[in-house]
Amino acid sequence: MAFFGVKDISIAFGGLEALCDVSFSVEQGMIFAIIGPNGAGKTTLFNCINGIYRPNKGSIRFKNEDIQGKKPDQIARRKISRTFQNIELFSHLNTMENIMLGRHIYMRTGLLRGAFLGGKRSFAGREETAHRRRVEEIINLLDLQSVRNKIVGGLPYGVQKQIELGRALALEPELLLLDEPCAGMNTEEKQDMIFWIKDIQDELNVTILLIEHDMNMVMDISDRILVINFGAAITEDTPDRVQRHPEVLKAYLGEDTQSETVA
Ligand SMILES: Nc1ncnc2c1ncn2[C@@H]1O[C@H](COP(=O)(O)OP(=O)(O)OP(=O)(O)O)[C@@H](O)[C@H]1O
Ligand SMILES: [Mg+2]
Repeated sequence: MAFFGVKDISIAFGGLEALCDVSFSVEQGMIFAIIGPNGAGKTTLFNCINGIYRPNKGSIRFKNEDIQGKKPDQIARRKISRTFQNIELFSHLNTMENIMLGRHIYMRTGLLRGAFLGGKRSFAGREETAHRRRVEEIINLLDLQSVRNKIVGGLPYGVQKQIELGRALALEPELLLLDEPCAGMNTEEKQDMIFWIKDIQDELNVTILLIEHDMNMVMDISDRILVINFGAAITEDTPDRVQRHPEVLKAYLGEDTQSETVA
């Protein structure tokens, strides 16, 4: 039984079939990429996995449990976290506070509020100190020390992407969904992001689903790649074979160009 698997997932919006019988499985510890042209259904797939959308049919299994139909907070409690294609941070809160919010599943009602209001001697205060320690570890891991207390709305885009990753890590995920983590980044920021993603896989043993348009990055770090187009899977294979697949070339380049590669 695979660590994570999707079987025959379909979802339609009105007349549009955004996903049609998509199936794949992922072994623990893998970086599994999902690629495809704009509008192919990649983000929709993530939205089905983390419970924002409810598929019309199919099953989603995580560690031997069918999680299809569960709500986003129930998915989070199973230690599946994600980042968003369009950054979704609280722009008026600082870096630490945003990352702390990623730990909401570990906090009792009221503790989140307490986490921002202090009170170190109380039980909530002691628990808060433990949470802060975990957040500090993430801040150090992602080199965010210099922006720890800065309001995130005013920070550069690339740094906000890093903070989003930090918030997703704060949940201590076993499965991490990254929706275009390098989009809009410069070369140096991309290199750092790739380094951290590999580190998260190697050091924290997190299984990663990665949506990304940067083909060099995808080919470099993925163990396996699923290609979707118009909501349907074209192929699922190793990077080497995917970039030579005639239908993949066709989907990306719009014609049969058997001699070229996707990258
Ligand atoms: N809530 C929704 N209501 C209606 N249509 C939707 C909804 N969500 C997604 N779609 C449609 O489903 C299709 C797939 O969208 P999706 O965002 O999954 O694409 P994507 O592969 O992530 O594309 P991109 O690479 O541009 O991010 C698109 O045609 C999109 O307009
Ligand atoms: Mg998308």
